[in-house]
Amino acid sequence: MSNKDFEGQNAIVTGGATGIGESTARILADRGATVTIFDINQEGAERVSSSINENGGKAFPSITDLTNWEATEKAVKEAKSRENRLDVVVHSAGGFPKYVSLLDCPVETWEGILNSNLKSMFYLLKAAAPLMIENKYGRFVSLSSMAARSGTNPNPPHYTAAKGGVLALTRQAALELGKYNITVNAVAPANVNSPRGLANRTEERIAHIESTSPMRRLCEPDEIASAVVFLCSKEAGYVTGATLDVNGGATMAP
Ligand SMILES: NC(=O)c1ccc[n+]([C@@H]2O[C@H](COP(=O)([O-])OP(=O)(O)OC[C@H]3O[C@@H](n4cnc5c(N)ncnc54)[C@H](O)[C@@H]3O)[C@@H](O)[C@H]2O)c1
Repeated sequence: MSNKDFEGQNAIVTGGATGIGESTARILADRGATVTIFDINQEGAERVSSSINENGGKAFPSITDLTNWEATEKAVKEAKSRENRLDVVVHSAGGFPKYVSLLDCPVETWEGILNSNLKSMFYLLKAAAPLMIENKYGRFVSLSSMAARSGTNPNPPHYTAAKGGVLALTRQAALELGKYNITVNAVAPANVNSPRGLANRTEERIAHIESTSPMRRLCEPDEIASAVVFLCSKEAGYVTGATLDVNGGATMAP
């Protein structure tokens, strides 16, 4: 029997069709939350929602492109209307498709990654915060990355900049929204064993990460999701503007 500490709460998880977002959606639903999964991957969002519902949870897919303001605002309002409240938003959508150096990065690729990782966060905050303010309660957690915390990993410039922006916007939003009992935090993972994480890395790169990480392994999506869910919990009520590094000690590694 799992802990139902999110019973009665209404949550949105972006990027919930796969990876870290999927794990987070499953844990929140298992602990009693109603979860709406926002993703552009229709097949994945529907598959995860069905699976949660078959296991006794309550989930809905929302096929929403988070780089579109009108679509995001409409989808957030729809998700809220299901329970007439909005308690939790987890922003896991984002990532990047492949490594590219600063000088080789096409302008449109830069803009696309900034939009899907950072502009989307602004849109979500702008749409969700007024609905949380109505109830004087909210938890907003975004996925940043070790790429924004350290230069030890080769990372593409658009992604590093976007995830750095996620941390800055997290702090700014935390400052503005604290008086409404809304917390805003970020989790900064490194080297997660998600489908995209694996697709991005060669076997040699994975072997290198495993041999140099203090933990000697990649991180499982559930291990990031557990940290995210802690920040979504009532118990984390005085944690805001924070970045929780979940990287197996990678930023300490020589
Ligand atoms: N996997 C890692 O190693 C790792 C490390 C550090 C940070 N992160 C971050 O954690 C988050 C989740 O990572 P993951 O590996 O689970 O990613 P993932 O690629 O498995 O999942 C991301 C999801 O976001 C969705 N998405 C992308 N753009 C979207 C848009 N415009 N609108 C709606 N949905 C959109 C995708 O369809 C996908 O389902 C990302 O923000 C990523 O940058 C991942």
